[in-house]
Amino acid sequence: MSKKILVATEKPFAKQAVVEISEIIKKIGYELTLLESYKDKQELLDAVKNAEAMIIRSDKITEEVIAEMEEMKVIVRAGAGYDNIDLKAATAKNIVAMNTPGQNSNAVAELAIGMMIYLARGQFNGKAGSELLGKTIGIHAYGNVGRNVARIAHGFGMKVVAFDPYVAKEVIEKDGVTPLDTVEEMYETCDYISLHLPSIPATQRFVNYKLIKIMKKGAAIINTARKEVVCEDGLSMIFSERDDLKYASDVAPVTKDELIEKFGNRVYFTPKKMGAQTLEANINAGVAAIQQIINYFEKNDTTFQVNK
Ligand code: 3PG
Repeated sequence: MSKKILVATEKPFAKQAVVEISEIIKKIGYELTLLESYKDKQELLDAVKNAEAMIIRSDKITEEVIAEMEEMKVIVRAGAGYDNIDLKAATAKNIVAMNTPGQNSNAVAELAIGMMIYLARGQFNGKAGSELLGKTIGIHAYGNVGRNVARIAHGFGMKVVAFDPYVAKEVIEKDGVTPLDTVEEMYETCDYISLHLPSIPATQRFVNYKLIKIMKKGAAIINTARKEVVCEDGLSMIFSERDDLKYASDVAPVTKDELIEKFGNRVYFTPKKMGAQTLEANINAGVAAIQQIINYFEKNDTTFQVNK
């Protein structure tokens, strides 16, 4: 039976990804509504009214948005982090929420490595910088993105260590990565720390003054995860006390302008969150999302449900 599918992406997918999603929708006989690059929340509130399924990216699906949904059965976040969906409100309305884990991880990992090189080379200022070869990288949270960062870092000849109390040591060791028992040991010994924590109450502001303070001389933090996992006040405070540390982030902090003004080229922020913004990642995540919707409607498959 035909279903109404809404693709609502404030930051749109690459054209080719939309073409592939549309073809799959056409083939199964569903209907597509495309809401891309919307500027006004009202456009989203109107669009969700009659949709039975929707694909989103970092679009904020708040209680207010969910309240407008009259027919919605499933929301798929084409990506990993689902902190942008009010799961409580979705569950209360019997709406299934899913993500598409792993589909955009390589893109994010490549950006993390790119940002490391950018910092190592003084933001391409033409002066003598440093190399990644022989340096130690600490992966803070060893999920799909972390694994990809480890794989690429090995190619650069880096020593790779990781801290993740939720992943078995054997799993980390199998990738040739050294699991560490304490997060402090990682911050003390690494030249680069790459953050891959989800934003949940337990991780918010986790990377704080105390942790940054113990970092190795000249070390850098790369954040392609979420702004919430770093305590911005703590970062600012320790950066004022130590002039050797660096911070690059793809998830702009609230105090971005202030940090740039205070610390100049010791900090770097991408103009817009772009970790997962590649053609390949858009196709992978977008196609996975529509296939998950079809599997849900046609086979009641809830494999990637996050509000079970
Ligand atoms: C994710 O959680 O998958 C990434 O943060 C990518 O987010 P985006 O789809 O908004 O680029």
